[in-house]
Amino acid sequence: MRSIRLRGVLLALAAFTLALASFSIYKNYSPAPFFPENGQTISSSQKMGHEGADQIIPVDESEVLRLRKKVRVFVWVMTSPKSKQRARAVNTTWATRADRDLLVYMSSEADPSLPAVGLSVKEGRNHLTAKTMQAFDYVYKHYFHKADYFMKADDDTYVIMENLRYFLSFFDTKEPFFTGRHFKPEVKQGFNSGGAGYVLSKEALARLAARPKDPPLCKEDGKGEDVEIARCLEKLEVRILNSTDSRGRSRFHTHEPVKHVIKGVSWMHNYDANVVRVAGDCTKCWLYTLLSVSNWRVSSTEAELNQSTAA
Ligand SMILES: *[C@@H]1O[C@H](CO)[C@@H](O)[C@H](O)[C@H]1NC(C)=O
Ligand SMILES: *[C@@H]1O[C@H](CO)[C@@H](O)[C@H](O)[C@H]1NC(C)=O
Repeated sequence: MRSIRLRGVLLALAAFTLALASFSIYKNYSPAPFFPENGQTISSSQKMGHEGADQIIPVDESEVLRLRKKVRVFVWVMTSPKSKQRARAVNTTWATRADRDLLVYMSSEADPSLPAVGLSVKEGRNHLTAKTMQAFDYVYKHYFHKADYFMKADDDTYVIMENLRYFLSFFDTKEPFFTGRHFKPEVKQGFNSGGAGYVLSKEALARLAARPKDPPLCKEDGKGEDVEIARCLEKLEVRILNSTDSRGRSRFHTHEPVKHVIKGVSWMHNYDANVVRVAGDCTKCWLYTLLSVSNWRVSSTEAELNQSTAA
């Protein structure tokens, strides 16, 4: 009994250290992130699946740059005047590995220092849907032709851009799909969690931007933006792409890594569209396929990082 508990604690510690190490890898851009074996190609049957998308070995920085050009991912980060500090932390960490001309912050007040776009919406949970709809409309208007994929993230989401581009490189952005942490309630095909961030293909964004507004096909305001956007996309025949890896492990996360590593988050077991699989069998390889983490407490994570890199 005692040894089992001890093993659990040791596992947790090891996992947490690995998680921190992976953050510091991405934070410092060295050593290089993790990418596929050279020459790996996708057959058409794999295109809308996920097989193969996680056979990963470390490669050099030129591979990172190649994918950066090949898979252009636009990211918009939802923020607010109240959570500027978080947006600043995003700005100095993972946003530095996004393309700067393909990243904007969306707020209710413009802030040229980030820069943040000021949308004409009221702040607060009850208006997250309007904020999201307007943000995607704005992105469509100004960036549609500049990128292949369009991601929504929160200002407490941590995104590993390199792994995200790699994952998306397996799919065809002309297909109408979106992907993220797939939860099953509320919408027939389910929805992707807002906190973990979700990604729309180019075709999905085109359909969303062209949604009928008079009379409206979709809810244009209200709470639960992730559910509403999924309802809307379902009406537009945009399907959810399975984002789990070939072992069924998750790539998008609603909580910090350590919560997902051992048991998973308890409420999620009935809520997730997939069996909640955690790192267990291979924490290290799971980290290579990790794309997003939410509830990222920037200040404490950074402090711990500094400690671990100083040690
Ligand atoms: C955010 O990052 C951009 C690009 O590096 C920089 O120009 C800007 O000053 C940063 N803003 C803040 C508030 O950190
Ligand atoms: C997603 O893929 C995994 C791994 O193949 C599979 O086990 C799971 O059933 C799929 N999920 C859905 C919702 O189809």
